[in-house]
Amino acid sequence: SPPLSTFGAGKVILLGEHSVVYGHPALAGPLSQGVKARGVPARKCQLTLPATMSRAQRAQLTGAFLRAAKLVGEPPVKVSLDPELPLSAGLGSSAAVSVACARMLLCAAGREPTPKEAGRLAWEMEQEFHGTPSGVDHTTSAHEQLLLYRRAPGSSDVGRGKVVDSPRPLRVVVALAGERSPTKKTVGALRERQARWPERYQRLFAQMGKLASEGARAVEAGDLEGLGDAMNVNQGLLAALGLSSPALEEMVYRLRGLGALGAKLTGAGGDGGAVVGLFLEPEPAVDQLTRLGVRCFSSQLAGPRAT
Ligand code: PMV
Repeated sequence: SPPLSTFGAGKVILLGEHSVVYGHPALAGPLSQGVKARGVPARKCQLTLPATMSRAQRAQLTGAFLRAAKLVGEPPVKVSLDPELPLSAGLGSSAAVSVACARMLLCAAGREPTPKEAGRLAWEMEQEFHGTPSGVDHTTSAHEQLLLYRRAPGSSDVGRGKVVDSPRPLRVVVALAGERSPTKKTVGALRERQARWPERYQRLFAQMGKLASEGARAVEAGDLEGLGDAMNVNQGLLAALGLSSPALEEMVYRLRGLGALGAKLTGAGGDGGAVVGLFLEPEPAVDQLTRLGVRCFSSQLAGPRAT
């Protein structure tokens, strides 16, 4: 039979990373960039990985893959991955890998890779990567729509995303600002601070959740300036929580200087990682940044597309 090919989209969180872990809503959308998986019939179920990956990354990924494979009866398929996203930058590369693999395993097992089924299986893989992820990454990737996501209260089950419709194209520039620590570490360090000063941190998490809900309403009303402002305020709160860095701040101000309606770090943050800016016209900003040697790209997250 012919080779199978599947895709898992990367994601960008516009509002509410970290506070989403504590039960507040987050606004996140799919990137057109992601991870491709290719599957060929084989004697047993297996995964081959790019040689550029570290030994630790491979071991973790293989473990996650085999865990998901077991759940669908280990279909005899040899899966290889082609990541177009920078790994571990906060763009949901692990979720994109999980969704691409989940869809592949479902197809190989003769099952329909619906967003729900693929999401559920990808969730099994994600737990291997993150420990206790909120689920926003793989849910956004599996649905490939702009979502207001909320984690299921008081359980380890996956949460729910509500589709947010945009009457206007929602276009962003994503720029990379240096290396960063693993999400698990950044999330864990924040958990220790919030355990020590719970009320202070809960107040900020609640504010971030409000910004995500307000941002979703702004999107639905076509109010991109309102969304941009919410992003800027969210960045201030992320910095207050100790999740920003000089490299991230510099990139945030660069994007604002290039005309972003709003700009903030996206994903776990920490020492470095990805920054997202909301733009009416992303191309000139991408050209300018590329000339300066910044790794960046643009993507449309929602809204009507030019044909
Ligand atoms: O940086 P990423 O892509 O791993 O995003 C993590 C988002 C967090 O809210 C920080 C963690 C989570 O599980 O939601």
